[in-house]
Amino acid sequence: MPWPQSPKLGVNIDHVATIRQARRTVEPDPVWAAACAELGGADCITIHLREDRRHIQERDYLILKQTTKVRLNLEMACDDVIVDLACAHPPDQITLVPEKREELTTEGGLEICTNDRVRDVIRRVQDEGIAVSLFLEPSIRQIDRAAELKVDAIELHTGTYADAQPEQAEQELFNLVSAAKHIHECGLIINAGHGLNYQNVGSIASIPAMHELNIGHSIIARSVFVGLEAAVREMKHLIVGGVPGSDT
Ligand code: PXP
Repeated sequence: MPWPQSPKLGVNIDHVATIRQARRTVEPDPVWAAACAELGGADCITIHLREDRRHIQERDYLILKQTTKVRLNLEMACDDVIVDLACAHPPDQITLVPEKREELTTEGGLEICTNDRVRDVIRRVQDEGIAVSLFLEPSIRQIDRAAELKVDAIELHTGTYADAQPEQAEQELFNLVSAAKHIHECGLIINAGHGLNYQNVGSIASIPAMHELNIGHSIIARSVFVGLEAAVREMKHLIVGGVPGSDT
């Protein structure tokens, strides 16, 4: 499978909704955010409709489904209500993630070796023509199981790498590179995300065959100062311009 010159950028706009929900008001609107992200060069809009609805709401998903011109990636847990919603109004892709109510953000990858529920959800949404990505740790065991389950893509969890102390970062990067190689050999699409920012994105963007990076927090944080369109454009420039090793 040939790979593109540089990975695509999926912009996660959850935290625009987080600000809105802090006041239970109507602004800022993630629908507007998606349009700005597209103008900045986003290749995909990603939202996570959580069981606790702490940021993105059904209303956001249903409007984004009509207004988003690039691909729409719906992150979700194996929750019946959300699976029903996705099947009734199919996004381009779903990404299955683990979810715990008390967590600040998604912690760790999905465990799929001992989880039969995941298989049922994959079948159901694939029957609706929706591509499926699984958010996994860089584990050969989990990747082999994902290949057995015939998913379309794997999103590698980059959080451990992003949070690593300098002396550990090289090992974590090696784990991600090895996992990506294995995913490619299995014939699956390689995505990555979590904790990526303007400093560390270069190393992950230059992993061979990397297809798409999903980035939220750092882009939304920067947008407070430079605007969302500019924040996305700067990130896209780092990814496409390829500044390998810019975090070393
Ligand atoms: N990918 C997945 C599966 C996620 O759950 C998240 C966080 O919502 C991200 C990527 C983006 O992570 P961050 O906000 O740290 O860029």
